[in-house]
Amino acid sequence: MPQTTLSGKTYCIRTFGCQMNLHDSERVSGLLDSLGALEVSGPAEADIVVFMTCCVREAADTRLYGQCSSCKSLPAPPSGRRVIAVGGCIAQRDGEGLLTNVDNVDVIFGTHSIAHVGDLIAEAFEGGGRQVRTEEHEESGATSMPWHRATSYHAWVPIMTGCNNFCSYCIVPYVRGREKSRPMEEILDEVTILVRKGVREVTLLGQNVNSYGRDLFGAPRFAELLRRVGDTGIERITFTSSHPKDLLPETIDAMAEVPAVMPHLHLAVQSGSSRVLKLMNRRYTRERYLELVDAVRDRIPRIALTTDIIVGFPGETEEDFAETLSLAERVRYAQAFTFIYSKRAGTPAAEIEDPTSRDVILERFNRLVKVIETTAFEYNQGSRETTVAALIEGASKKDATKLQGKSPWNQTVLCPLPAGARIDDFVGKVVDVRVDTARTWYLSGEMVGGPR
Ligand code: SAM
Ligand code: SF4
Ligand code: F3S
Repeated sequence: MPQTTLSGKTYCIRTFGCQMNLHDSERVSGLLDSLGALEVSGPAEADIVVFMTCCVREAADTRLYGQCSSCKSLPAPPSGRRVIAVGGCIAQRDGEGLLTNVDNVDVIFGTHSIAHVGDLIAEAFEGGGRQVRTEEHEESGATSMPWHRATSYHAWVPIMTGCNNFCSYCIVPYVRGREKSRPMEEILDEVTILVRKGVREVTLLGQNVNSYGRDLFGAPRFAELLRRVGDTGIERITFTSSHPKDLLPETIDAMAEVPAVMPHLHLAVQSGSSRVLKLMNRRYTRERYLELVDAVRDRIPRIALTTDIIVGFPGETEEDFAETLSLAERVRYAQAFTFIYSKRAGTPAAEIEDPTSRDVILERFNRLVKVIETTAFEYNQGSRETTVAALIEGASKKDATKLQGKSPWNQTVLCPLPAGARIDDFVGKVVDVRVDTARTWYLSGEMVGGPR
């Protein structure tokens, strides 16, 4: 068989959704690069446009249609023909169905079929017609493919794919399949290579990293993985997401004892009402969640706790919501992602009747956001007059004369770029910042000493 080539073709990738998709896009990009294609900045100059889609909420779902249609009005690309490929979770969910809904899509590849995207695109260019590949159980091989990191200093490292939890509102287990852990040695080899290449921070990815290894070893081994990744010499380890029902004491110990593990834990609560948590199939109660928070704070007192909360789960009452508010006030989150419940066809929650009006849900949502803004502001006050080590990511989007970075507690940190210096001299470097201002969403102050 002739070797697939996309030599001379240009491509761009538009990514929606979570870090899983961001990383899958890096794999797609690495694959297209290895076939000779060249990345360009936008669809107008691209022969190949790839959309990596998300369907976790309705808003994400509907965006795809607009994006695909907007490609129709673009000028012809350099090669004279443009191939549009749709990957990610909508592709996996809808498969061929997308061809009828979006008439200018040429390639559909599911979340398990990333390794085939080059062949599918090449086939579409060669007049092979519209291509669809969404087999669920194929070994994608994606984690051993070349990949193209967005930055030199940070890497997403998937440690597992899929999800076994079937929270009653969530579509992810249906589109990403069952939990599958990567072999521990493969992950460690990957991180070791990344360290050699100068990567300073890795984010270990999974829908529920706490159950890492259950399918391989019969019991979770996430604590061991954290310790061994810590031994590779990587400077910063972060991870997401962590399901409260599987957060083990040994994992909290590893977080407290491995210096590279950052003092930040994203522990999605979803609701503060045990009644709603049961309907959500989360398999912990409000009390159990609060016990976990206490256990984590006992070992890591200044830890930045962040969370996800859904407002307006079907049948949520004012009393249920009051429990969510009081939980948020009690935990005092450093940050939270708050979502309005979105009905996803095929999930059990979609069958539950909901008499609550949209206005009531919006009003609850706004009350919750106020609480989170207050606790986030307060959390950041604890950093005033301290020196934080910020890993610099680039210029501030609002003010190009400022450097922007991340503290170990996942706070955004801003500081002025020294006179005569260039942003690029600092990207991927760590600088100490003496914090004089702490706002809800960022810290700022003066740099002390030089980059390292
Ligand atoms: N596996 C992660 C966990 O359990 O922490 C979550 C992954 S999901 C991509 C991210 C967040 O989206 C969830 O924590 C939940 O808050 C939110 N989410 C999922 N399904 C939703 C729905 N149907 N409506 C609103 N928000 C939803
Ligand atoms: Fe969705 Fe629950 Fe799995 Fe997270 S743990 S991906 S919320 S089913
Ligand atoms: Fe969206 Fe799929 Fe992630 S549905 S949130 S991109 S796993």
